[in-house]
Amino acid sequence: MSQSHPRISKAVIPAAGLGTRFLPATKATPKEMLPVVDKPAIQYVVEEAVAAGLDDVLMVTGRNKRPLEDHFDRNYELESALEKKGDGERLAKVQESSDLATMHYVRQGDPKGLGHAVLCAAPHVGDEPFAVLLGDDLIDPRDPLLQRMIEVQQEHGGSVVALMEVAPEQIHLYGSAAVEATTDADVVRLSGLVEKPSREEAPSHYAIIGRYVLDPAVFDVLSKTEPGRGGEIQLTDALQQLAADATLGGPVHGVIFQGRRYDTGDRGDYLRAIVRLACEREDLGPDFRTWLQRFVTEEMQQR
Ligand code: UTP
Repeated sequence: MSQSHPRISKAVIPAAGLGTRFLPATKATPKEMLPVVDKPAIQYVVEEAVAAGLDDVLMVTGRNKRPLEDHFDRNYELESALEKKGDGERLAKVQESSDLATMHYVRQGDPKGLGHAVLCAAPHVGDEPFAVLLGDDLIDPRDPLLQRMIEVQQEHGGSVVALMEVAPEQIHLYGSAAVEATTDADVVRLSGLVEKPSREEAPSHYAIIGRYVLDPAVFDVLSKTEPGRGGEIQLTDALQQLAADATLGGPVHGVIFQGRRYDTGDRGDYLRAIVRLACEREDLGPDFRTWLQRFVTEEMQQR
């Protein structure tokens, strides 16, 4: 690993979107707080950042930010009630999220898009490379991705995105990347990016998923990026500029991810995430799997 690139220690988690796909649940609650089994989705994301060695976490929040801040703060009333009851197991669960990382918050104000949310992090991040983890994108903890992306950034400099091969009919839901192979099988160099292209316009089947390691040059580019698709300031548009001109902030590479990933902002994927993670839990899994098997058999018989 090259030592010439500054170490990465900061993670930015944009969590200020409106979450309209999940209404009415997200009317008064951020979608990132929806539970996946018994932990809010956002806690998995912060745990992932910490597991990759990033313990300075800046969350970009918007309206309804209170539950996010409260979740990562102490709750003395609850802690003392559990202490009095002698319920050490639940006490540990309550304290876990407040002891995870050094948390910082910034408000986005108007949700003008993911690119704008990332730009709100500029004063905190300063002039160092940093990671971005989307608060509603869950990477299975058994399939580490961010560590590999950091390694690639340290080797090549510039920025690194996470890519996943998707079916052609799915590509319009993502940013898509034009890629060139490198000597590493799981790493490609990006020559272009398009946000939510039609099947015909998509440069490849590689979709950009919610993990990034970015060169701070992205802030300068974002500050000049006009609203794009959906009238929002798109991070993909800024990355396209970085990919097109490596003198701005180094190259843009992609790490091809083949593990398990769930978009918890999408209702179907959210349900799948819960079922998968519940099945694999030691405490809940055995009973839940037995029930699920019976349920599926009965469902099949009725159809
Ligand atoms: P999404 O594209 O999922 O948008 O954002 P959304 O508004 O949250 O959800 P829907 O589509 O209306 O259901 C991807 C990520 O970027 C954040 C979101 O919180 C999510 O983590 N985001 C998006 C912001 O922080 N600010 C924005 O202005 C837009």
